[in-house]
Amino acid sequence: MKATAELYAYTEIVPPVLEYTEVFSRGTGESSDIVRKEMYTFNDKGERSVTLRPEFTAGVVRAVVSNKLYATEEMPLKLFYCGPAFRYERPQLGRYRQFNQFGVEEIGQDSSRVDAECIIMAMQGLYMLGFQKLSLKINTIGDDATRKAYREALKSYFALHIDEMCDDCHERLQLNPMRILDCKVESDQKIAAGAPKIKDYLSEASEKRFYETLSILNDLGVEYELDDSLVRGLDYYSEVVFEIHAIAQDGTDVGALGGGGHYGGLVKELGGPDLPGVGFAMGLERVYSLMEKDGLLKNLETGIDLYVMPVGENVLNDVFVLTEEVRQLGYSADTPLAALKMGAMFKKAEKRGAKFALILGEDERDKGVAQLKNLKTKEQSEISLEHLADELDSAFHKAFPDEEEEAEGHDESCSCGCGHDGHCSCGDAEKTDEKADDSDADLVKEGCACSDADYDPEEKKEEGMK
Ligand code: HAM
Repeated sequence: MKATAELYAYTEIVPPVLEYTEVFSRGTGESSDIVRKEMYTFNDKGERSVTLRPEFTAGVVRAVVSNKLYATEEMPLKLFYCGPAFRYERPQLGRYRQFNQFGVEEIGQDSSRVDAECIIMAMQGLYMLGFQKLSLKINTIGDDATRKAYREALKSYFALHIDEMCDDCHERLQLNPMRILDCKVESDQKIAAGAPKIKDYLSEASEKRFYETLSILNDLGVEYELDDSLVRGLDYYSEVVFEIHAIAQDGTDVGALGGGGHYGGLVKELGGPDLPGVGFAMGLERVYSLMEKDGLLKNLETGIDLYVMPVGENVLNDVFVLTEEVRQLGYSADTPLAALKMGAMFKKAEKRGAKFALILGEDERDKGVAQLKNLKTKEQSEISLEHLADELDSAFHKAFPDEEEEAEGHDESCSCGCGHDGHCSCGDAEKTDEKADDSDADLVKEGCACSDADYDPEEKKEEGMK
């Protein structure tokens, strides 16, 4: 998710876990269930009321306001965050009292394109994790005038039914009748199903704005479902709101994976200028749980590059130094730090997801070599420690050619047909990659069709980080 956020030019913000309670009561909203019933609130030693964040948006906006981040040239602010949040809810599948959210907030630019970008980013992040069937539910709750008119209509409707409804709904009717639409009590939900719909109260401007957002989604082929009962349970929203759902192949439904929307008045409410924002947050436990059920976690498994194995006590220090060298070259590596049997070390390597084992015994050390074993193909070869960087680069390039090309931005080989994307002197100079590695060099040495006889791989040897 972070990688996706960075693709969209968001940068990370790390807001505090603890805020003055007022940030959430004013920000998230007095009438929301979160503020009414779900916050972990207590007095600190200075008798100030503080709260463990139940969500990030109010705290992020508070940080933007108190640090005047809006007074920079970098507007709109594009911020992402990730961390724990706390809600006193009844624990059940997909619902915990401490959970983790990943989310973004884009603050300072009022446009349906900004709203659309945020929705698309949320969907894209989930697609990149491997989800294929996502359901995007979308609605608008309009501008202030729309919601004022709608609240009046709801008040009149629910006043007729309130005697049959739960105690919470009595309170909601007074505070904000829109919150009744989120009530989880089944009999109340049936009554709510017959309530007036917000689409019949939309101002012309809100209607236009919503259809602009939808038309961008249409242009990009993003599928959505219009859900006129979606109002979201937080008070700061205005205009577009959305939720993303997915159901595991075995039918498990953990609830919404994420949700968000536009907020017009939150920055001002928390003491800042009149700036709009839009954002979303995802529940990472829910995302993880569905990924686990649908076998998508393998998309996240990276493992380490090398497990470095000492053969016997006498090479422990050499292996310690070798492991450090390997890390300095930019390869992730681990080593047992004690002499273990080979079988035990191979098991540890497997547990760490190591791609290669680098094995050093006394004989190897004395000859200045080590054994490099590809743990997938089981191919093993002796490599020179003097040319460690080139040897490893070459082995990794051979084992994972696609990854290397992606990382280095290659998209084509040299056009002479020799297969080099690096050093070939066929004249295809633009495609020369300074960082090309020894696998290219080997090809050259073996006799390139373009006969690049003058090429000296040693000259190109890379120093330092991969
Ligand atoms: P939210 O819908 O309250 O929105 O929470 C976002 C996501 O957090 C939910 O869709 C769900 O996946 C996850 N979540 C919420 N509560 C729990 C829980 N008790 N256990 C596990 N997961 C949970 C917000 O928090 C807004 N701040 C989103 C936003 C950002 N709107 C604008 N900007």
